[in-house]
Amino acid sequence: IKPEPVPVPIPGEAARKVKIGIYFAVWWALNVVFNIYNKKVLNAFPYPWLTSTLSLAMGSLIMVVSWATRIAEAPNTDSDFWKALLPVAVAHTIGHVAATVSMSKVAVSFTHIIKSAEPAFSVLVSRFFLGESFAAGVYWSLVPIIGGCALAAVTELNFNMIGFMGAMISNLAFVFRNIFSKKGMKGKSVSGMNYYACLSILSLVLLTPFALYVEGPKMWAAGWDKAVSDIGSNFIWWLTAQSVFYHLYNQVSYMSLDEISPLTFSIGNTMKRISVIVSSIIIFRTPVQPVNALGAAIAVFGTFLYSQAKQ
Ligand code: 3PG
Repeated sequence: IKPEPVPVPIPGEAARKVKIGIYFAVWWALNVVFNIYNKKVLNAFPYPWLTSTLSLAMGSLIMVVSWATRIAEAPNTDSDFWKALLPVAVAHTIGHVAATVSMSKVAVSFTHIIKSAEPAFSVLVSRFFLGESFAAGVYWSLVPIIGGCALAAVTELNFNMIGFMGAMISNLAFVFRNIFSKKGMKGKSVSGMNYYACLSILSLVLLTPFALYVEGPKMWAAGWDKAVSDIGSNFIWWLTAQSVFYHLYNQVSYMSLDEISPLTFSIGNTMKRISVIVSSIIIFRTPVQPVNALGAAIAVFGTFLYSQAKQ
């Protein structure tokens, strides 16, 4: 007679790790889909200020409808919450629009190679703005991160200064966003999901006037007609997909930021870039030179050394 199987309870810590692992896998998968549709849209309709505004608008709409229909519980916020959220939203808006402008000018893989230097920005910001100091190994790990990115950048066949600077500005802005967000979420009753929803709404309010000023309806109308005549009705689906997936991947990333440290978050984010770089090179058939790939690999390996040194 076979003995009855005894159910083995999963200890709390193991269950938490499984949950974070699932968040990471979903976050990366959603991000790959977002990046592909985002680039398809930008190739056909090169107006990054409008597409970044639409991504935030879609996220805001999804969340307002979810609150109104009670699919998600609306957060209880006060004016102090929104005041504290303002610097996070400024950083999020700048980082988002800068990355989108970058991707409108260069290959998705190039933007993400430069964005894999985010941990280096995190160290420099923490050192010079917050007065934190780190073990020598952390500073040494910046050499391959910065060197690898520089090697990948100078050998990039389609190098473009706006594309490069956009990714660099996005790095700096997102480091501030992550530091402010983690502080803002600490001890607050607002969940990661609702925190990101409020962030989208505030960023949308901040970005809309700039998008109108920098691009505006005249440009959009002409670009829209061309995109629809070139691509057909699929273009509208691509635009919808990039906006929906933008919200979903960010929402999941904030749900994991709720559970992990900014360090683990930035490591997860760099690992995510490997899947984006590889899949976008395959899908868009981006020409890559061996020295280019070597630079990217050195930069990503530097991030691994950074995470080891920081721990
Ligand atoms: C954006 O549009 O905000 C960027 O594509 C985001 O980049 P990241 O979330 O991969 O840093």
